[in-house]
Amino acid sequence: MTTRELFLKHVGQTSMAPLAFEVTKAQGCYLYDANGKKHIDLIGGISVCNLGHGNERIKTAIKKQVDDYLHVMVYGETIQSPQVQYATAIADILPATLNSIYFTNSGSEATEGAMKLAKRYTGKSKIISFKNSYHGSTQGALSVMGSEYWQQAYRPLLPNVYQYDYASSEALDAIDEHTACIILEPMQSEAGINEAPQAWFQQLRKKCDETGCLLIFDEIQTGFGRSGSLFAFEKIGVVPDIILLGKALGGGMPMGAFVADKEMMDCFSYKPVLGHITTFGGHPVCCVAGRESLAIIQEMFKANPQFVEEKRALFLQELNHDCIEKVNAYGLILAIHFKDYDTNKKIIDQCIKNGLFTDWFLFAANALRIAPPLTITHNEIKEACAIIIQSINEVMHESS
Ligand SMILES: Cc1ncc(COP(=O)(O)O)c(C=O)c1O
Repeated sequence: MTTRELFLKHVGQTSMAPLAFEVTKAQGCYLYDANGKKHIDLIGGISVCNLGHGNERIKTAIKKQVDDYLHVMVYGETIQSPQVQYATAIADILPATLNSIYFTNSGSEATEGAMKLAKRYTGKSKIISFKNSYHGSTQGALSVMGSEYWQQAYRPLLPNVYQYDYASSEALDAIDEHTACIILEPMQSEAGINEAPQAWFQQLRKKCDETGCLLIFDEIQTGFGRSGSLFAFEKIGVVPDIILLGKALGGGMPMGAFVADKEMMDCFSYKPVLGHITTFGGHPVCCVAGRESLAIIQEMFKANPQFVEEKRALFLQELNHDCIEKVNAYGLILAIHFKDYDTNKKIIDQCIKNGLFTDWFLFAANALRIAPPLTITHNEIKEACAIIIQSINEVMHESS
């Protein structure tokens, strides 16, 4: 059997039509398929590989840690310097109230932990989230996901969860003394890039302060430079009570985290003790990879604070075609909107044929996703945009 056939037979499937792109090597901004063909990677593992593939400094850090030790003990009991150093590095770049980092294995698990912490700390259970939001696929995270389509098959989910339109005044009105937390992305990525006005975020912070509702920002996708700042909340100018991290947090290794004030986090330590448990969270190899990756991203911003914005502007300049309805862009996440899903799917397939790897968005199936490594060069951006325009032309030509 071919590897493709074995993949379809033995690797649990979640789609009737997986991309089934066989990756044999990844380097810089490129993926290589089974025939050795080079493809420009425009999605970086869906906002994970912010430094591209095969970064030498990250590989060296991983190799050293592999020689020192791998997993030694469940989370939270032993002192492991990779964990301590990475938690300290994260606390150093966040506001003073975000100083206690709980490492998990994934973004979903960070969402779970944060919701538990909010319920535990406030003693309340009401949770508010938003339509077209995505916070992960486990049952708690699914309960706050903003889509009946993805939720329906798994009901009953968590009770006492209420959902509103993003950036709506109804959501602000719904926050009251019974609300444990409100969870949202500072920009809704999976909606094909949906932003909220800064003034709304300020009103949100005020309402949370007035009622004691905890504000949770999910920066799993926007974090680590993707937004154009290290974190999107810096652009917004509002500090959350809890921040969720994931994806690029691990420098290519699986990792998530939720971050809060130590006084809040400490409530996991009593009545009951071990308020949130993970065996592998904060794995030492993931911590060293993440820490090195963060250091490099910080160096990139220090060298040129505008580098993400400059690359975003270049994409926007190059992406011109009558067939494109609009391009939404937030830092280095861009969504090219076409008239419908069929057109988008054909263009994505054609891009892959032409040596460019991309995908669509959960709640915007008509939009092509661009979330390349932040290290993508200006020439690579021009090359990628030329392939997209060529692919659109070919699809249009075929259907005319
Ligand atoms: C905004 C956001 N939150 C949470 C998650 C869940 O992260 P994970 O897939 O690591 O569980 C994702 C993943 O796509 C995400 O984009």
